[in-house]
Amino acid sequence: MTFTAMKLKKSLLLISVLCGVATAFASELKQGDVWTDTDGNPINAHGGGILFHNGTYYWYGESKGENTYRSPGIDWECFRTDAGGVGCYSSKNLKDWKFEGIVLKPEIENTRSDIHPTMVIERPKVIYNDSTGKFVMWMHIDNAAYNYARCGVAVSDSPVGPFVYLRSERPNGSECRDMTLFKDIDGSGYLIYSSEGNSTLHISKLSDDFLSQSGVYSVALKNQSREAPAIFKHGDFYFMVTSGCSGWSPNEAEYAVASSIMGPWKTVGNPCSGKDSDKTFYCQSTYVIPVSEDGSEDYVIMFDRWNKSNLIDSRYVWLPIKVDGENIDIPWNENVPSFKD
Ligand code: GAL
Repeated sequence: MTFTAMKLKKSLLLISVLCGVATAFASELKQGDVWTDTDGNPINAHGGGILFHNGTYYWYGESKGENTYRSPGIDWECFRTDAGGVGCYSSKNLKDWKFEGIVLKPEIENTRSDIHPTMVIERPKVIYNDSTGKFVMWMHIDNAAYNYARCGVAVSDSPVGPFVYLRSERPNGSECRDMTLFKDIDGSGYLIYSSEGNSTLHISKLSDDFLSQSGVYSVALKNQSREAPAIFKHGDFYFMVTSGCSGWSPNEAEYAVASSIMGPWKTVGNPCSGKDSDKTFYCQSTYVIPVSEDGSEDYVIMFDRWNKSNLIDSRYVWLPIKVDGENIDIPWNENVPSFKD
């Protein structure tokens, strides 16, 4: 047995011993295949994130339009579709996904709306606020030229919407593009976003109701040009996987570790290993799902494998993360983890 095969066998054993929900690798579903919902339609939830609430997983993501076109007059490869709002799928087992509809609908009539189809709605994430009982969505809002650089917020009484769009802002007066949300175990919410021309990440503590910024924020990975942040916490450490900035084209991922969400964050290196790990398996990070019931053991990272010339046909790659102290490893496997029912 080769060293790599031994390592893989060891990690499979470790995964099954830790045994949250991700137990092994299924053979029937391959990374990057067309993943379908329970109606047999391709899942259209890109740049997405997962909320686990009352025993159900909710997957929110960008609903891409049928036609991909290039924004005119822009010198970089600004491929896009009309903004189709935010789609939601629900599942009990992270495997069978029921389409719950477009839970944040684009505003078709109002041409000046942030969520008009001519705008950009990307990387939506939802967290539940324990004190207000509301589901709060934040997302990157931009214009066709990507120079609006704001975050939008929407709210709902139910995880499956409808979400009511409230407004967009430049959090703490700074640009906001690729973003994620993180809810800590004390119930606090954080908005993490690429800012300052995508050169530096900002970490902003949300207000108690999650609908605005608290005014407390810090900067991370200054001048390192990172985007696509995906954060999780294990034991005493917070981990953040990011991509470099090369639009829809893949690049090498990096991860950073911190003992406080506000930093300081220490860059460690590429968390991916195996085939095409220098290109993040031709993917870009979007979210980390804590998979075991108490969120303490197994983690699965969600990646997008973008198809820039036909964005709706972008695919998904989900891989278990192995955590060892301050280090993480995301080994390639062509099979999607199988989740226990
Ligand atoms: C990526 C970003 C995507 C999207 C794309 C546009 O770098 O992560 O969310 O904004 O650029 O080209």
